[in-house]
Amino acid sequence: MASLSSFFGLLVIFATLHFPTTCRAKLPENHVAFFIFGDSLLDAGNNNYLNGTSPSATTSWPYGETFFHHPTGRVCDGRIVPDFIAEYAKLPLIPPYLQPGFNNYTDGVNFASAGAGILPETRPGTLHLKLQLSYFEEAEKGLKAAAR
Ligand SMILES: *[C@@H]1O[C@H](CO)[C@@H](O)[C@H](O)[C@H]1NC(C)=O
Ligand SMILES: *[C@@H]1O[C@H](CO)[C@@H](O)[C@H](O)[C@H]1NC(C)=O
Repeated sequence: MASLSSFFGLLVIFATLHFPTTCRAKLPENHVAFFIFGDSLLDAGNNNYLNGTSPSATTSWPYGETFFHHPTGRVCDGRIVPDFIAEYAKLPLIPPYLQPGFNNYTDGVNFASAGAGILPETRPGTLHLKLQLSYFEEAEKGLKAAAR
């Protein structure tokens, strides 16, 4: 069993994106994006796309039954906290970073991974905090490139 201090629960960042003038035609000047880091409380499905792990319980019924009506990888039967925050901020639901084909981070992206800890040893195979932060750096590069 890992020590409590190696887990992390809620860690979210709201960032105001400043796009160059050419992009402002499409987005409000102070567009808010929502970047989510964390563990099972906040995972919107990243763990569905991990390599080398057997499918988690969250891929089967009754997960997701009350809102999405199918399992989404959320460790919940409905929406999780980031979904409610996104709705409140009038953003779409923020997809998991590992979702194949998803690469538009204008509204933010979710890096959380169920079981993840701050340290890689907490639950090998999940997205530990350092990995989530390195994905964030990649996403940031993508955003900067898209804004050019
Ligand atoms: C899974 O494996 C593929 C192919 O080797 C790789 O491109 C991808 O980055 C890996 N994903 C994760 C989350 O490790
Ligand atoms: C990316 O998402 C933003 C916000 O939802 C949207 O305005 C923009 O058109 C999208 N960009 C692309 C290239 O799809």
